[in-house]
Amino acid sequence: MSLEGKTVLITGAGTGIGAAAAIDVAAAGASTILVGRRESVLDATAGTIRERGGDALVLPADLTRPGDVDDAAATVLERFGGLDGLVNNAGVGRFAPIHRADPSDLQFMFDLHVRAPVQLIQRFVATLREREGAIVNVTSVAGQLAAPNRSFYGATKAAITHLTRSLAKELAPAVRVNAILPGPVDTPIYDELDMSSEQMATFRAELEAATPIGRFGRSEEVAPWVTRLLDDSAGWVTGVQLPIDGGRCV
Ligand SMILES: NC(=O)c1ccc[n+]([C@@H]2O[C@H](COP(=O)([O-])OP(=O)(O)OC[C@H]3O[C@@H](n4cnc5c(N)ncnc54)[C@H](OP(=O)(O)O)[C@@H]3O)[C@@H](O)[C@H]2O)c1
Repeated sequence: MSLEGKTVLITGAGTGIGAAAAIDVAAAGASTILVGRRESVLDATAGTIRERGGDALVLPADLTRPGDVDDAAATVLERFGGLDGLVNNAGVGRFAPIHRADPSDLQFMFDLHVRAPVQLIQRFVATLREREGAIVNVTSVAGQLAAPNRSFYGATKAAITHLTRSLAKELAPAVRVNAILPGPVDTPIYDELDMSSEQMATFRAELEAATPIGRFGRSEEVAPWVTRLLDDSAGWVTGVQLPIDGGRCV
């Protein structure tokens, strides 16, 4: 695999799956653009990439703010002249039973998981067409599997997964659009959940029990699939919903 000469933007690249994907994509030769809110964690990812001889630009942006998305897109087009790969990965988990769930959380997750990817795709579709590029959306098995207390999260992930399939048809043959559906992966996303340590231990044990491989995945086990779907060797692959999930969806 080689992404030599390509430019790839990865959202949520400061931690977890996005950081691992950015490092893997850069190792395959691409110039990477790292987007997220916290400059400190983006700098850490960029540092790792540069230590290994790769190229990274840190571009802080809050993707729930349409103005930030527009500014980031304009900077990329000005600095790089175009884009070959877009990885929509940034996400949060806001879980609650429906009687307590705050509709503003639904709005926030819809903005981050659906509206921001759509806005980025719209800003970059012309250059992606011209360069016969690829889009990878990091969605979730939660968009396929019904789960109590996670209805808002699952609904937004189902939306971006379906959007992936629609756009795969609409943008073919020039642009390939695929989704990766992680199962439980050990990342900081679990630190942000509103749970006591006891609730978290129970939740993690339930997830492990429901995963045939019997453990959480690592971000480094997801990252190479992002690189693979961006690579020209996946030239006949579009519209897939690829679970990387220890068998969770089986
Ligand atoms: N870990 C899992 O078990 C799992 C399972 C299925 C799917 N996923 C999906 O995988 C993706 C990556 O998650 P992860 O597990 O790697 O968690 P993570 O380490 O928490 O990464 C999420 C990233 O998104 C960024 N982000 C959050 N809000 C943002 C905003 N408003 N604007 C820009 N960036 C924002 C965060 O950086 P800042 O806070 O600095 O902005 C963070 O680096 C998410 O879409 C998640 O839903 C994860």
